[in-house]
Amino acid sequence: MKIQIRPENKNDYKTISMINDMAFGQEAEGLLVEKLRKNKKFIKDLSLVACMGNEIVGHILFFPIEIKSDNNSFESLALAPMSVIPELQGLGIGSQLIENGLAKAKKMRHKSVIVLGHTEFYSKFNFIPASNFKISCHFEVSDEVFMALELEKYALKTVSGCVEYPKEFNDL
Ligand SMILES: CC(C)(COP(=O)(O)OP(=O)(O)OC[C@H]1O[C@@H](n2cnc3c(N)ncnc32)[C@H](O)[C@@H]1OP(=O)(O)O)[C@@H](O)C(=O)NCCC(=O)NCCS
Repeated sequence: MKIQIRPENKNDYKTISMINDMAFGQEAEGLLVEKLRKNKKFIKDLSLVACMGNEIVGHILFFPIEIKSDNNSFESLALAPMSVIPELQGLGIGSQLIENGLAKAKKMRHKSVIVLGHTEFYSKFNFIPASNFKISCHFEVSDEVFMALELEKYALKTVSGCVEYPKEFNDL
């Protein structure tokens, strides 16, 4: 199965929302992407689609966030949301989207990525519980599902604080 990964363009917007809605079985994540796209921090090159021929079958978004403490603020990226159409899940498309996205983010000199999600899946890409660093979040979630990845060695060593997601995430 030949999959190509590329940044989104205007013609993809509707399909991206649809794929997110199908994968999550609700409309919230599709809407979230639409709202984030209007946020000035949105990075088009980090909203990636997986294509099979001309058809989009998956999507991943990395969005800038801040890790804030009383005295400091550190920039990072949230990996959210990501989706693969239900019929094609479990075939490696999601993994390709992550690998491609992480490589791209690193190339753009982003230093770290935060994700809230399936532990087994994301640990394959070296995400570890954020509690290994001094990073927390406002959500009440179990330790192992809130994870972080250093794109640059020791990037999170001196970082401490709570992850501030943009307000668009509040509606999830
Ligand atoms: C998660 C998702 C993007 C992965 O894409 P994919 O193409 O299926 O991923 P891959 O084929 O590369 O890898 C499959 C792995 O995904 C993980 N995974 C997928 N769905 C999962 C679920 N509901 N719970 C836990 N792990 C899950 C498993 O680790 C699985 O590995 P396995 O096949 O060895 O069991 C896709 O399954 C999806 O769209 N799910 C619904 C939406 C979602 O949960 N998004 C992520 C939110 S954190």
